[in-house]
Amino acid sequence: MTVTDIDAIPDFARADLAGSGKRVRLRDLYHDDFGADLYDDIGFSNTSEVFEILSAIKGHPGPVLELAAGSGRVTVPMVAGGRDVTAVDLSDTMLTLLRRRLDAAPRLRGTARLVQGDMATHAEPEKSVAAAVIATTSISLLTDDARRGMWRNLFGQLLSGGVLVVSTVELDAEHAGGDAIARTRAEGAGGRHVRMIESWPAAATERVVVMYDEDQLTGPGDTVEVCVTRIGVVPADVVTAELAEVGFTIRRTRVVTTPDGRHRYLVIEAVTP
Ligand SMILES: C[S@@+](CC[C@H](N)C(=O)[O-])C[C@H]1O[C@@H](n2cnc3c(N)ncnc32)[C@H](O)[C@@H]1O
Repeated sequence: MTVTDIDAIPDFARADLAGSGKRVRLRDLYHDDFGADLYDDIGFSNTSEVFEILSAIKGHPGPVLELAAGSGRVTVPMVAGGRDVTAVDLSDTMLTLLRRRLDAAPRLRGTARLVQGDMATHAEPEKSVAAAVIATTSISLLTDDARRGMWRNLFGQLLSGGVLVVSTVELDAEHAGGDAIARTRAEGAGGRHVRMIESWPAAATERVVVMYDEDQLTGPGDTVEVCVTRIGVVPADVVTAELAEVGFTIRRTRVVTTPDGRHRYLVIEAVTP
């Protein structure tokens, strides 16, 4: 990993880190141990969307394909509910966390098939999947072309009458005209305090999130590890139009508001004929 100076941090977050006098070390949110642990620590216990996803796939018995499964925030409740899940993620580090988590629960050990792969190109046999799930607005990590290709792949892999459940995020209308920068703090399951600084100007095509462990900033070490993640903005109407173009019918869109009220997750259910 690179030890950088503060200049590598986006302008909007630089002042938050500069005063400490510590060195900044950039880490990857999903692909190295620090970032994956940080994500898992604050992400795994977040139950947003989980109820909506479980309820959307309920009427579709059979194999579930979960893309961008991460450390299993949605995978674990699905397998705990008896679903046969193939969980795909690009990051071996995230999948290792998921495998450990499943192995630690005697009832879940050996469940779920974990596959390291790209959600845009992952291929299950044609017409073999009853339900496909892509949670936590993970589609916004793809380019527009990759995302459109993924819809075509999924349409071919889903059984007739299958469902695709996909979420995206929008700024809540009340906040859209407000501050472009939001500072929040989350306490991880492991007790650390994670600072998140998000820059999302209205109408931007990308938002940027800077995350670090505040305890590192104020603690005795000389380095603070920082994850900077750039996430595309994919409005729900773009997703539904793309899905309809491929042949899906949009069955329902549910709105999930986050506790900070700033974000609205839209959980879209699309079915094959
Ligand atoms: C926001 S996390 C979501 C994880 C999990 N679904 C959850 O709800 O906590 C995004 C995940 O997408 C994975 N990812 C990023 N690009 C990917 C790609 N092209 N194909 C598959 N997974 C990808 C990351 O490794 C990470 O685990």
